[in-house]
Amino acid sequence: MSTTYTLDTATSRAHPVPEPVRRLTVPAIAARKVAGQTAEPVVMLTAYTARMAQLLDRHCDMLLVGDSLGQVIYGLDTTVRVTLEMMIAHGAAVVRGSYRAVVVVDLPFGTYEASPEQAFATAARVLRETGAAAVKLEGGEVLAPTVRFLVARGIPVVGHVGLTPQAVNALGGYGARGRSEAEAAKILGDARAIAAAGAFALVVEGVVEPLAREIQGAVACPVIGIGASAACDGQVLVIDDMLGMFERVPRFVRRFDSLAERIDAAAAAYAAAVRSRSFPAEAEIYRPKP
Ligand code: KIV
Repeated sequence: MSTTYTLDTATSRAHPVPEPVRRLTVPAIAARKVAGQTAEPVVMLTAYTARMAQLLDRHCDMLLVGDSLGQVIYGLDTTVRVTLEMMIAHGAAVVRGSYRAVVVVDLPFGTYEASPEQAFATAARVLRETGAAAVKLEGGEVLAPTVRFLVARGIPVVGHVGLTPQAVNALGGYGARGRSEAEAAKILGDARAIAAAGAFALVVEGVVEPLAREIQGAVACPVIGIGASAACDGQVLVIDDMLGMFERVPRFVRRFDSLAERIDAAAAAYAAAVRSRSFPAEAEIYRPKP
């Protein structure tokens, strides 16, 4: 009998307690798309911490521990400098905080591109040390043999084509892809190759709408868009972007909250309470037992 553990999410001081919650599976996500159609769109968000995973879990089919954590959490300028150790630490935290969603961990730059064997060693370590169900890797046709190698050895893979941020130095920026016919044809070929190699889902980032539509129709697995229009089988956003943690976001991001402003207001209220000595109040003080 397997046991899933849940936390009392009302407190940061809780111990895990057993609870029988069934996690979604990789085949269940792949099976969402039938004969080119996805009746129930795949809902995916990034998560980097256990607490955020707890909050997002019941709303999401998949949680992505994206290497965007390099910028979002660590203040790095690109994802190129993200390490495997960072991905494993945050991947394990997100698995601990979630009970239902399929957790996918990004393979960071430089840990999988050299050979299928290098990718297998990295992906196996990620799954073993985090408990995640799958890995995601960026790249097109040239990575197809690697995807095939991993899938044949029991490692579920999510592909990522179009705008691939780990290649920012080669691409020269984060602009939308597929505006020229040649570039669109290349990205479509990449998508076909990665899907044919066995990826169970494909993230398509920052491409023009007609190309996203073509990719959705061309591959059997669910296409999860980010900046790739509503033509996709599902959507993913960086959690901090959609919560409104940053002032500037790409055009495709919808901000569902203004968390940065609310944090600013809360921090200001706290600072004022400390300075005026109105915090802590009587109810917030320990007293000796009478
Ligand atoms: O790292 C990440 O967050 C991602 C998403 C943008 C898809 O790859």
